[in-house]
Amino acid sequence: MSDAPLASDLLADEHIVVTGGGTGLGRAMAEQMAALGATITINGRRTEPLDETVAAIRDAGGTAAGISCNVREADAVRDFFDAAEERQGPVTGLVNNAAANFLAAAEDISPNGFDAIIKTNLYGTFYCTQQCGQRWLKREERGTVLSIATTYAETGSAFVLPSAMSKAGIVAMTKSLAAEWGHAGIRLNAVAPGPFPTKGAWSRLVPGDDMEQKMKSRVPLKRFGKPEELARLVAFLMSSANSYMNGEVVTFDGGEKLVAGGQFNDFTRMPRAQVKAMFEAMRSASD
Ligand code: HXC
Repeated sequence: MSDAPLASDLLADEHIVVTGGGTGLGRAMAEQMAALGATITINGRRTEPLDETVAAIRDAGGTAAGISCNVREADAVRDFFDAAEERQGPVTGLVNNAAANFLAAAEDISPNGFDAIIKTNLYGTFYCTQQCGQRWLKREERGTVLSIATTYAETGSAFVLPSAMSKAGIVAMTKSLAAEWGHAGIRLNAVAPGPFPTKGAWSRLVPGDDMEQKMKSRVPLKRFGKPEELARLVAFLMSSANSYMNGEVVTFDGGEKLVAGGQFNDFTRMPRAQVKAMFEAMRSASD
């Protein structure tokens, strides 16, 4: 993974935990931050992706460990941080990336389905963040938490209700703790990505090629985000180069979120000459 334009020692001396770091965007972030000098510990439910990602980071000259953990379970999260620190030293940063989601009509979601998403996204993020906060406050050490939200944490979205509710909670946690823990040099921020194709997300959220094309055409940049683009932003946000940002949610969506809000944005889907002719005709008619 490219480290340009970030300095190759940007994250030296950092030990960063990436939850759900064995696959998808979590893996991209873990690899990028390792390439910039961070010691990385990743977790996830399945050991195979963890082993693969750790091997890839080590092959590229980085330092990494993988420890299986289901972030829905508070005791397992505490044991995970104990093990991570025992093996790789004090944790200095956390990326809350692990997430669950599926498409469903809200009226059909079972209590277990709701739990599966809320417990992974909201409880898991809180458990991991609290473990870090407790450790950093006790040791009087600074620390950085970055949580992966989504643009619909702000706008809401049909058919992903538990995800939208939990991501909105993650944003509230970020802002609340930015105020509560800032005195100790603990910074909390979030990134709100738009659509970034990964196997895990796309298999659950994108019903087919037609829908994928429609989703892409909504983005003003006319393309989806690339994992390495998100990874570079996250690496910067986690670094001391970003030392004064606290309690912020950075939208990273190619402009997608704005499109729904502007009443006239649909005109961009028409040929530009046709749009201009339409404007001219209206102007003449109104003179
Ligand atoms: C309705 C469903 C369902 C579906 C599962 N359930 N899939 N209900 N529609 N598609 C219900 C089950 O019936 C069950 O309830 C309950 O959820 C738990 O299911 P399990 O399979 O036993 O749970 P588990 O193995 O824990 O699986 C959790 C999961 C799964 C959320 C269902 O998808 C998962 O592990 N996902 C993790 C990875 C992931 O989702 N990544 C995408 C995140 S991307 P009952 O009542 O039957 O017992 C993302 C990006 C957003 O969030 C932005 C995009 C633009």
